[in-house]
Amino acid sequence: MGCRKLTVAIDGPAGAGKSTVAREVARALGYLYVDSGAMYRAVALRCLLDGIDVRDEVAVSRAAAAADVRLVDGAAGVRVLLDGEDVTAAIRRADVGEAVPHVAKHPAVREALVRLQRQMSAGGGVVMDGRDIGTVVLPEADVKVFLTASPEERARRRYRELVARGDRVTYGEVLEAIQRRDRVDSSREHSPLVKAEDAVEIDTTGRSVGQVVDEILALCARKGGTVCST
Ligand code: DC
Repeated sequence: MGCRKLTVAIDGPAGAGKSTVAREVARALGYLYVDSGAMYRAVALRCLLDGIDVRDEVAVSRAAAAADVRLVDGAAGVRVLLDGEDVTAAIRRADVGEAVPHVAKHPAVREALVRLQRQMSAGGGVVMDGRDIGTVVLPEADVKVFLTASPEERARRRYRELVARGDRVTYGEVLEAIQRRDRVDSSREHSPLVKAEDAVEIDTTGRSVGQVVDEILALCARKGGTVCST
């Protein structure tokens, strides 16, 4: 019997645990994990490298249309390629984090990346995380999840990640950055962060990654999704 390859959309605010959870769900099902935020980050990095003002809609849109952004699934996980160069680490820099919400506001940037995201999910077998996956990118997704967590919990997680990486930040700074990003992401005119009507909301505050992953796998099983090992 062939396996049924679903499309799984996971949305939510920064630090809700989307990428960790999405990666684990993809691994469990043998699906491709598509980190849509990484694609916006790659365009933001292109702008920083080329000295483009992220508020300059025309210049940013031109850069997004010209940029060759790819996600490549390899032994070391998914790598992000920008114009042929591996930028997996560079897109996590703090300056990219500051620039990316402004880049993601421009409709032409969104159109270019949404087109790519749809191409990647054609045929199913994809877990995609982001802000607008269940609402705009894949409105027909088989399973839609909206992950949340309190701002304090999200800041704690991000703070631990940054400190483990050797960044010198305070918890207060991280909390403030998260709240600032939430405001920009939720209030932008194009594709703001909202829960799709038919998404299942899961609050991850105080819950383990394994518990949340199991809950999503149960939703997939209910849709007839099965492990696709080949
Ligand atoms: O998930 P992340 O922190 O890597 O996302 C980076 C930025 O990109 C964040 O400001 C929200 C934006 N984004 C978006 O607008 N739409 C998506 N589908 C994914 C991310």
